[in-house]
Amino acid sequence: MLWWQRGVIYQIYPRSFQDSNGDGTGDLRGIIAQLAYLSWLGVEAVWLSPFYPSPMVDFGYDVSNYTDVDAVFGDLATFDELIQQAHWYGIKVIIDFVINHTSDEHPWFLESRSSRDASRRHWYIWADAKPGGTPPNNWVSHFGGSAWEWDAATGQYYLHSFDKRQPDLNWRNPEVQAAMFDVLRFWLEHEVDGFRIDAAHMIMKDPQLRDNPANLSRARAMPKPMGDYDAQLHIYDTGHPDAHGIYRAVRRLLDSYSVEHPRVAIGEMHIPDRKVWASYYGANLDEMHMPFNFGLVSAAWNAQAMRQSVDALEAHLPPGAWPNNVLGNHDEPRIASRVGPAQARVAMLLLLTLRGASTLYYGDEIGMHDGDIPPERVYDPIEKNMPGLGLGRDPERTPIQWDSSPNAGFCSPGAEPWLPIAADYKQINVAVEREDPHSLLTLTRRLIELRRSKLALTMGSYCAIEGVPDDCFVYLRQSSNQRHLIALNFSGHEQTLKLPEMGKGRIVLSTYLDREGSIDLALFRLRGDEGFVIELVCHDT
Ligand code: GLC
Repeated sequence: MLWWQRGVIYQIYPRSFQDSNGDGTGDLRGIIAQLAYLSWLGVEAVWLSPFYPSPMVDFGYDVSNYTDVDAVFGDLATFDELIQQAHWYGIKVIIDFVINHTSDEHPWFLESRSSRDASRRHWYIWADAKPGGTPPNNWVSHFGGSAWEWDAATGQYYLHSFDKRQPDLNWRNPEVQAAMFDVLRFWLEHEVDGFRIDAAHMIMKDPQLRDNPANLSRARAMPKPMGDYDAQLHIYDTGHPDAHGIYRAVRRLLDSYSVEHPRVAIGEMHIPDRKVWASYYGANLDEMHMPFNFGLVSAAWNAQAMRQSVDALEAHLPPGAWPNNVLGNHDEPRIASRVGPAQARVAMLLLLTLRGASTLYYGDEIGMHDGDIPPERVYDPIEKNMPGLGLGRDPERTPIQWDSSPNAGFCSPGAEPWLPIAADYKQINVAVEREDPHSLLTLTRRLIELRRSKLALTMGSYCAIEGVPDDCFVYLRQSSNQRHLIALNFSGHEQTLKLPEMGKGRIVLSTYLDREGSIDLALFRLRGDEGFVIELVCHDT
């Protein structure tokens, strides 16, 4: 079993993890300083959101140089040190590969927009205005408004699926492919263990640039409402099947570097159709090792919806493909805010006991909630372009709370953290929760440990159990003669379960961390907001 299959992948948003130089923004040296914590927590790998030179319009997802480190985060030598130290702790490092677009300040784009005959003109997607001067088609940006920006100097529009300062690369151009593969090689040579590929399904568009049809059902492409973006069916601006060829080539490159230590490709794929989503594993499992599964983020928080989401995932996985689960990231409201602090413990149990790799967003292990961002400190381009719709992503990006000292130990007391620290940081922080035997942090660590030590939880099969109350989701994880039953109560009320066919077992862990010991499954109760991991007694026949 490979490292990325068995373990927990911990996402670090570098700006918000640990500031080491007193400028109020997290940096690579800060991450190095916290590797001991991550090792204590038991994570297998970290995924670092972008740290490349960038004008920071979209906080690093607008890259102006793919093969360096922005001065705010450190330098290349510090990155190498991070890799070396992380590996010393046995922690793998996955980095973000922003494949679909660059910054408008990237030298490639500066050259591309310099004239219609520029040698890199066709590295980006340029098109003529329609008669009357309107944009070439009806495509809209994820961040609001048309996806086309007029360039008066050269008299054409360029495409930007996100902010207008993030022009889309033209992946149909072999020169772009070659340059971007060189970027991958560069980081593989720097010993990274893999890539999280940003907006991965978006790289190929309809070559005829046809209009998207209206989305009459209003079914959403993304986990949350996205304003005008939801008004269209995104069949022409994204997801063209030609992307598969690119991802087969990415995989071949990674495989060629995987002889001594396996590297991984994980794609950010917001594709509502599960069949299409699953196709990015590749017809012969030769593309993404895992397209991110956002099912747990998109579905309503109740037992039925969660079960349906997990079952749908299992049903659509190609044979041999490895599942994965995401509960939060830098684009989604915090789990503790979505479901409340009591259910956040149930959520953690779910995330860490489902089959497949789990991605844990920094701070979710201590129950961080969405921060309050005063209007003058809004940075996210989504909130700036579409204010007031609740789409802004600053609230889930506030600095992690390490301890009860001023600025929560994130930056020096005299510094101004780039986003405000949560007001309740003296109660919700790593230092306090480490000492508390019943905290969410203690629960998370125990679950990670359990998952590592029990074969049934690491690699066992998954099977949902029928005949349980509507507010409960119960499933079995099984590997040879080891069986674990997971029972989750999604309500605040006590639930009575009767599973006589399961026989007897032992509670290994309750989400309240106050109960262990034998249990008769013929009749048992879950308290409100409680979840169990139960080891079943196996009878050899
Ligand atoms: C991805 C990232 C998001 C970013 C966007 C554009 O969706 O997760 O944070 O804004 O791509 O790069």
